[in-house]
Amino acid sequence: MATRSTLRPLRLNGATFSTPSHKSQLLLRGKGSWNKRFTSTTTTAAPPTAPAKPSKSRFRKYVFRTSLALVLFGGYLYVTDTRASVHKYVAVPLVRWLYPDAEDAHHAGVDGLKELYRLGLHPRERDSPDKDGKLATEVFGYTLSNPIGISGGLDKHADIPDPLFELGPAIVEVGGTTPLPQDGNPKPRVFRVVSQSAMINRYGLNSKGADHMAKVLKERVRAFAYAHGFGDHDVAEQRVLNGEAGVPPGSLFDGKLLAVQVAKNKLTPESDIAAVAGDYVYCVDRLAPYADIVVVNVSSPNTPGLRGLQAAGPLTEILKGVVGAARKIDRKTKPFVMVKVSPDEDSDEQVDGICHAVRESGVDGVIVGNTTNRRPNPLPRGYVLPAKEQQTLTETGGYSGPQLFEGTVALVSRYKEKLAGEGAPKAIFASGGITTGQQAQAVLDAGASVAMMYTAITYGGSGTVTRVKNELREVREK
Ligand SMILES: Cc1cc2nc3c(=O)[nH]c(=O)nc-3n(C[C@H](O)[C@H](O)[C@H](O)COP(=O)(O)O)c2cc1C
Repeated sequence: MATRSTLRPLRLNGATFSTPSHKSQLLLRGKGSWNKRFTSTTTTAAPPTAPAKPSKSRFRKYVFRTSLALVLFGGYLYVTDTRASVHKYVAVPLVRWLYPDAEDAHHAGVDGLKELYRLGLHPRERDSPDKDGKLATEVFGYTLSNPIGISGGLDKHADIPDPLFELGPAIVEVGGTTPLPQDGNPKPRVFRVVSQSAMINRYGLNSKGADHMAKVLKERVRAFAYAHGFGDHDVAEQRVLNGEAGVPPGSLFDGKLLAVQVAKNKLTPESDIAAVAGDYVYCVDRLAPYADIVVVNVSSPNTPGLRGLQAAGPLTEILKGVVGAARKIDRKTKPFVMVKVSPDEDSDEQVDGICHAVRESGVDGVIVGNTTNRRPNPLPRGYVLPAKEQQTLTETGGYSGPQLFEGTVALVSRYKEKLAGEGAPKAIFASGGITTGQQAQAVLDAGASVAMMYTAITYGGSGTVTRVKNELREVREK
């Protein structure tokens, strides 16, 4: 006897058939004997049956479908919430297992977040935890929703500023970008030191170039303008950039700021300071319209000669060029300018020189610091690294992770002290080893306005910023 499902009609090549399933549909296209048997079955008339009772099976189906919908919805709410432990305990180990190379894992993370955001399935902070104002902080006279930032290098090409903002920070720094595209160093160039939750990288400022990033950021502003009823044309873009949408023109989020980091090309000779300054100014001309903060990177350890630009003379010239270019952009409010300095250039003479350049040039603040060329002692004290990790420590590149933290606090205090006094106040953002809310509070107490993270996020996953902010609230409530 023909079942209920065999009587479902299917139109194929003008003829009507009945089919039980998708599998049957596929087989129907072939010429096998099953096909003949099936078609002959469907031509047999079904004997009259009694009218169907409101069946139990229909009710079961209803219950099953409703339960499935509820489970899927609950699952969606869970996995898209930054508080879900699945991000740290499942997603991070899974990505690490699937991608033994740390750079491949980085790309997978960025691509995955970008795609999830496009589908509306990205992790996000629910219930706007910052709305109570308890973590609000003043930077450049602007009220940030919280004092946590994501450091440069995590989103090198500005692929995911919006999904990163959705993870809860008040500052997202994209880049570093260089004027012309450059490949960076040969692979492999990123290494994990898992026992230390640390990394060593020698990316060498791989960049798609400032023009590419400007195009990406421009499209982002255009999409925002269109979605908020300003239209889809140059005037609409300019109105958003002039602040008419009521949000900062870089971040496009209330209470948040977008920092765009710029650097020189590897092939621009560091001995030609005018050419070097020209590299930075080229990037600023293209990118500053889309930034709330422009960050000048003179501290990557992986571009030969770059750190030498932190000497007072060249730094003053470069920073003056950047500040001048940032003030000239066609926008109602101009971006702030910060310089990101190295934790290794830490002698009194070097710190004094940098502070002098900061004051002379009119830069608004300093990001202290970056990865280190040193190899800090393992944590906990006395811990002996496995042989494989000791081998990893011999890789050339900048070290990042929790072992940097103590040095960061100390260097923030020194910059705070040296930048105090005459002239406009300078903001300090801290970067290096910050992993917990307690540590974030410690760098804020030392004089920073913002605590930035990178490596902690690669080990802790997309819930890291939310966790650190919650710990910060607890620290402050005690
Ligand atoms: C893989 C990787 C890439 C990075 N790329 C950049 C970069 O392009 N520009 C930059 O200024 N800092 C870069 N950094 C440095 C971080 O922004 C940060 O200053 C440093 O890692 C110290 O902070 P952390 O211990 O929280 O990671 C990079 C760090 C890592 C681990």
